[in-house]
Amino acid sequence: MKNIKLQVNGVERDFIVEKDRVLLDLLREDLGLTGAKQSCDRKGQCGACTVIVNGRAVLSCLTKAASLDGAQVISIEGLGTPENPHLIQEAFVLASAVQCGFCTPGMILAAKALLDSNPDPGVEQIKHALRHNLCRCTGYQKIIEAVQLAARFLRGETTPEAMRAELAVPESLMGVSHPRPLGLPLACGTAHFTGDIKIQGALELAVLRSAVPHARIDRIDTSEAEKMPGVAGIVKASDIKGTNRLKLQRPDRPVLCGDKVRYIGDPILAVGAETKEQAEAALKLVKVDLTPLPVIGSWEEALAAGAVQVHDEFPNLCYEQPQVKGDAQAALKDSASVIQARFKTQINHQAPLEPEASAAYWEDEEEGEEPKLVVIGRSINIHFHLGMLQEALGWENMSYREAYSGGQFGIKVDVISEGIAAAAAIHFRRPVRYIPSLAESMLMTSKRHIFDMDVKLAADVEGNITAYCNDLVVDKGAYYSIGHVVVYRSLLMLSGSYNIPNVDVRSRLVYTNNPWGSAARGAGPPQVNFALECAVEMLAEKVGMDSLEFRLKNCLRPGQTKSTGRGVTEWPLPELLEVIRPHYERAVSEAKAFRDGPVRRGVGIATGSFGIGGPGDTGTAVAQLNEDGGVSVFAAAANPGEGNDSMLSQLAAEYMGIPLQKVRLYTRDTDLTAASGPAAASRITYMIGGALMNALEQLKDAMRETGAKTSTELAAAGKAVRYLGGKKNEDAGPLDPKTGQGPSFESQVHAVQLAEVEVNLETGEAKMIRMTTAVDPGTVINPNNVTGQLEGGADMGAGFALREQYIAGQTKDWITFKFPTIRHSFPMETYLRQTPRPKGPMGATGVGEMCMVPTAPAVINAIRKAAGIWVCELPATPEKIKALLKAGAAQQ
Ligand code: FES
Ligand code: FES
Repeated sequence: MKNIKLQVNGVERDFIVEKDRVLLDLLREDLGLTGAKQSCDRKGQCGACTVIVNGRAVLSCLTKAASLDGAQVISIEGLGTPENPHLIQEAFVLASAVQCGFCTPGMILAAKALLDSNPDPGVEQIKHALRHNLCRCTGYQKIIEAVQLAARFLRGETTPEAMRAELAVPESLMGVSHPRPLGLPLACGTAHFTGDIKIQGALELAVLRSAVPHARIDRIDTSEAEKMPGVAGIVKASDIKGTNRLKLQRPDRPVLCGDKVRYIGDPILAVGAETKEQAEAALKLVKVDLTPLPVIGSWEEALAAGAVQVHDEFPNLCYEQPQVKGDAQAALKDSASVIQARFKTQINHQAPLEPEASAAYWEDEEEGEEPKLVVIGRSINIHFHLGMLQEALGWENMSYREAYSGGQFGIKVDVISEGIAAAAAIHFRRPVRYIPSLAESMLMTSKRHIFDMDVKLAADVEGNITAYCNDLVVDKGAYYSIGHVVVYRSLLMLSGSYNIPNVDVRSRLVYTNNPWGSAARGAGPPQVNFALECAVEMLAEKVGMDSLEFRLKNCLRPGQTKSTGRGVTEWPLPELLEVIRPHYERAVSEAKAFRDGPVRRGVGIATGSFGIGGPGDTGTAVAQLNEDGGVSVFAAAANPGEGNDSMLSQLAAEYMGIPLQKVRLYTRDTDLTAASGPAAASRITYMIGGALMNALEQLKDAMRETGAKTSTELAAAGKAVRYLGGKKNEDAGPLDPKTGQGPSFESQVHAVQLAEVEVNLETGEAKMIRMTTAVDPGTVINPNNVTGQLEGGADMGAGFALREQYIAGQTKDWITFKFPTIRHSFPMETYLRQTPRPKGPMGATGVGEMCMVPTAPAVINAIRKAAGIWVCELPATPEKIKALLKAGAAQQ
């Protein structure tokens, strides 16, 4: 033990610490300063724990407190508060550099340390200073801009007031980048994520997970573990009173496995103890006997004759749906040019920075009532998940509260750690916190599916696309989750941006013992669009047409039909290609300077047309008039970082003609909101924003009719003060089981991306030089929120294209995952066109996933132009590129 004195945020403190205690624990546990976060299991990989010690940015997870006697420490709480923020905190909010906000405190403190020593840093100096700090949401561009803005504030060149005045357009709240309502609490470290929430008397959990992909559980011996200090007990499948199945679409995923494990990471049991260390120590003494079972490692193995079934009650081929439009086989025969290729995408991790923390506690009981369990997590579908938990755990009186969320990108479409936390709380009748490591978070979460696609694309002599065939198989992994929805969405968007008169598709979804797939930003379309847009490029090459002209010629036009047979009314894709044209010509011309030498530059184009508001989709929201003339909005619109707080506030304020400050949001609690579907499929602006407009219209009608301005006046006039709004896509129902023809999305968002990529022919390394994106998202509510989504998505798409992959048992942290850092970031330009969508809220539609739909094919098409190779299997790693270059050279 050592006695140390520290000055923390200007206050002298005295501690007696063990030699291994790190500063992060001292701040979070001893002082309750939870602004410093932990993402990377204290490996120095994430920077979320950055604080300032004696003027330098340090990783507090690696800094021993005992070495800090006499030091001055500044945590994010010492910089400013939401009421009185520091200029750097203001800059991050005003530059829209805060999305989920999990990385933000660390980023701000790294920026402060830089700006204290260098008041006018260049981009490279900013990148160097922030090289330890990861962000999954922003693509880093707005973070660099925020540091530059902060520098201008600190140099006195401008002020936050001047910036706010510049932003505020008095006539309209639409199309204005108002700072997000939640920005300052996130930038000041006062917003609480699940792991920041202290619950008095809570047990901590440690969970045993399978290290093998397929085995029978023969025997579990917990006798030694149960005797360990601090251990309250152990929860097993047999202790769960409900179905023990987390059923989203199909009841195949257990909360805890009782008979078999089906992938590396399947949970077997949970130890509850007074401290996390005690729970982990006891877990080491649990003995489990497993009998290995044959491992189904691929869809081919799953469909082989005599293959074992991953689930006894469901066949390995778990979904099949053809799509047939016209006569593709006849069209192929009559076509002048046909290309054929097989494309494959990898298993990928969605990689939110926040680990999969959850908690559960018992509310004080009312006399004679069943006690109420409150579950805390970062669900994006709190009502549906509540129902899943009630059924799985056999406990009715529960509610779900969404904490601040450190990103999710599709993972939280399903229940993840909350099932175990709530099961343990019920078993022990105690509050529980389950704060897993990053390594365990990676094991437990769903992943982006493997798509294996055998493709043919054909054109006539004039370069008109005539036919498209795709035999696509999706590796489901061990559990169904949203299952066929991924395939279904892929079919709804299969023909992408194009007019393709003849389509012949076979789609299959197959169980394996791989990590279970579910939603991952785009959920299907990024994979099928990768195949389509690379095939389009191959065909353009074969036909001998320019990449942009070929796409322009084949764009779908209003009145024509998609692969589902549904016609479209507006389709502003040709206009976006024209927006991109001058950039394309500039980029192609610049790339000519790289025709020789080891580094070659290529320019790739890809498009995307992404559906919003699926068949039969519904949304609800409630608007209530307040006494001050403001409006309260009640809507289960999760906010894992996209800016749904801005969207709801700006729509409500604009429509009601009130200041933003008079809009109050209630979005995070099942007790306060009605079910409204997941914050997934880019649907929240369109569906919940649409439902809110409907509620506001009713409220405004009542106010107009009565002349009431306040809730008292409205009630006195005999009218309700609270209105339930709804929105529904009336084009509903399943696809035809034989032809895949049928209903489709109510709205579409379109984008064209232009990737400039350099390939080093010696090392095989592909490097992003620039990404230019043109998007038509309908009426823009908040431009910075739109561009923030697009930049973050392009960064994620480039990672998907070039480096990221999840390999079960090997990918355990951000290094092995190859998380894109600020050093990998690249300049991005975004151009917005606005074609109002007739049924969207004030003409808006959604963009959250659009941004990565064209990215991977744009990058792969650029690699083709640069190096003459086709990388048909993602990711395009240096090893793969080198092997393809070598194979190409051998053929010549
Ligand atoms: S928790 Fe310190 S660097 Fe990740
Ligand atoms: S805002 Fe950076 S991780 Fe979400």
